[in-house]
Amino acid sequence: MTVLQRPEPRPGVLSISAYVPGKSHAPGVAKIHKLSSNETPLGPSIKTVAAYRAAGEHLQSYPDGSACELREAIGRVFGLDPDRIVCGAGSDDLLNLLARAYLADGDEAIHTTHAFLVYPIATLGTGATPVVAPEKQLTADVDAILAAVTAKTKVVFLANPNNPTGTYVPFDEVKRLHRGLPAQVLLVLDAAYAEYVQRNDYEAGIELVATSENVVMCRTFSKIHGLAALRLGWLYGPAHIVDALNRIRGPFNVNGPAIAAGIAAIEDSAHLNRSREHNTYWLNWLSQEIGKLGLAVTPSVANFVLIHFPATKGVTAKDADEFLTRRGLILRQVSAYKLPNALRMSVGSEDANRLVVKALSEFLGRRQ
Ligand SMILES: Cc1ncc(COP(=O)(O)O)c(C=O)c1O
Repeated sequence: MTVLQRPEPRPGVLSISAYVPGKSHAPGVAKIHKLSSNETPLGPSIKTVAAYRAAGEHLQSYPDGSACELREAIGRVFGLDPDRIVCGAGSDDLLNLLARAYLADGDEAIHTTHAFLVYPIATLGTGATPVVAPEKQLTADVDAILAAVTAKTKVVFLANPNNPTGTYVPFDEVKRLHRGLPAQVLLVLDAAYAEYVQRNDYEAGIELVATSENVVMCRTFSKIHGLAALRLGWLYGPAHIVDALNRIRGPFNVNGPAIAAGIAAIEDSAHLNRSREHNTYWLNWLSQEIGKLGLAVTPSVANFVLIHFPATKGVTAKDADEFLTRRGLILRQVSAYKLPNALRMSVGSEDANRLVVKALSEFLGRRQ
């Protein structure tokens, strides 16, 4: 037996490429527009900020470890049983809890080629193996996911809509995926961008969770609710999965100010509608205007666009990123998502959106 000279992490941990968040700085530039993390340009609502500030008066007290009032508020808004909701420190927390509860050494978890990077990270962290199912036209492909299922498969992660592509799987297809999975495989529907989607054939997954034993839906307060800094997410799942997660989560995994702000945010439908309207208008505008410049834009239903650049020296995604960053416009390189020729841009304020289109036009024009 080999005697170790120092502690070694479990198998898989050192194969993890740590998550690299979107840039937030542009050296030497006075005014920056951060469009690299899919944050909302409208920010949180006034009521939400007021609730957060009020909670700041009570920092000496532990929060309610079960986030009962927040779960009840979410339950009221969505018509759900609060006992089947788990809150987490961002949906990242919930995705990791799911991985810890349902994956172990030797198991497999499926995600698609350009899926959200937290899935392989959470999977590898448990000692399990991520299995990649190919996409079709940058969209999750149900047949490919089903073909990747083996006797070792324990979890399927599906971001719907997906980040960074912005594409989605219609609900009929999600149901077909579910029907094709063995009963012991957990289907994780990650609906972080659900509020932005304006398609008749889309559903975040509430109905599927309510009518099955092996589906959960994750949601976040980081995007349309504008609370990314507070780290707050929630999950709706079958009672037996909620029970398992409650056994392993941190006893106070959601902090007090986040609970207070979350309650105000989920109840402020007027703010949510304003944010959605802003997004719908500018998502469409950006897709069209960037398209007119001759750059392909993947049709997106979320709050960001994936812009494709030529591989030609001087006009690559990396060149564009440098050009834009010098002007304080910070987009996201997505090579880690196997998209080296693309940049992801969050829908920003009117000002930021117009500046990016103008800058991209200059970037392309100066080389013609
Ligand atoms: C698909 C997807 N899921 C989950 C998250 C994580 O969100 P949170 O801030 O709630 O951890 C993100 C954030 O970018 C995301 O894009």
